[in-house]
Amino acid sequence: MFNSSNLLNCVLFPIVKPNYSKLNRQLENKVIVITGTSYGIGESLVNLLANIQCHLILVARTHDKLINIQQSLAHKKAKIDIFSVDLRESEQLDNLMTNLQRYSVDILINNAGKSICRPILQSLSRMHDFDRTMKLNYYAPVKLCLALIPHLQRNQGQIINVSAINVLLAPTANWAAYQASKTAFDQWLNCARPELENQKIKVSTAYLPLVKTRMIEPTKIYKRFPALQADEAAAIICRLLQTKKHQYKPWWTIIVQLASLFFNNIWVKLNRYFLKKKL
Ligand SMILES: NC(=O)c1ccc[n+]([C@@H]2O[C@H](COP(=O)([O-])OP(=O)(O)OC[C@H]3O[C@@H](n4cnc5c(N)ncnc54)[C@H](OP(=O)(O)O)[C@@H]3O)[C@@H](O)[C@H]2O)c1
Repeated sequence: MFNSSNLLNCVLFPIVKPNYSKLNRQLENKVIVITGTSYGIGESLVNLLANIQCHLILVARTHDKLINIQQSLAHKKAKIDIFSVDLRESEQLDNLMTNLQRYSVDILINNAGKSICRPILQSLSRMHDFDRTMKLNYYAPVKLCLALIPHLQRNQGQIINVSAINVLLAPTANWAAYQASKTAFDQWLNCARPELENQKIKVSTAYLPLVKTRMIEPTKIYKRFPALQADEAAAIICRLLQTKKHQYKPWWTIIVQLASLFFNNIWVKLNRYFLKKKL
């Protein structure tokens, strides 16, 4: 049934549709590495790309889930290889990079990610939160890019980063670990972009708003917020694959960016108000 929350979703997140027949032609026989494919946005993306005659290399930790995805899509056009890897573990990451040298990779989609919502005062003895988010959201994609840049250079390929709109907006309380690590890779990729584009490697970033996946489940308040579905977020990534545009961000991002620039003090006060109200 259509209600006011559906309407709000339609206004905030108008449907983004790639031209699938163009995408089919563009991705034919391409080798695409996608991280974080066992759940959420990554899994939805694999479901969409499986209809194309390309070669998908899936990376995530949950081996059974990867096997399950590979088997359930075996009748589709794409060839699928899987690698069960914890991208935070340097030995496993190094093994993955050695294995990836066997392929001629055309596209890297950095999607694996971990979010943590925790107040600083509850993090005093939890340095591992910052370590884990940096390892997965920053160091792993940097290492993967460095290993695959020679492939992408040869194949005039593309890097797509699945980022979060928060990276473009004023910082939010309780999100220090996640936001710092996502911002770190965003900065890295934006610095590298002119160099990569001189080598004919396209760089695209999806600055996604909230997406209904298991990632946001622990944050109760998000249940009431407008959000994309995982397959809508996957369609946005497909559109970046097809158009090779530099970025996707929701149309209202600029309004919120201006507001966070001009009313930054009010934003900080609002953060403090809501934190106190919670205590
Ligand atoms: N959901 C949102 O609201 C939202 C908004 C903006 C941006 N994003 C970004 O979108 C991306 C996908 O998130 P999602 O919402 O689809 O979350 P998700 O459903 O939790 O999926 C995350 C994926 O990353 C993989 N992953 C997590 N830790 C890993 C590790 N140590 N090594 C290898 N793979 C790992 C997970 O697989 P295993 O657990 O099997 O390893 C899973 O496949 C993330 O980069 C996230 O920051 C999400």
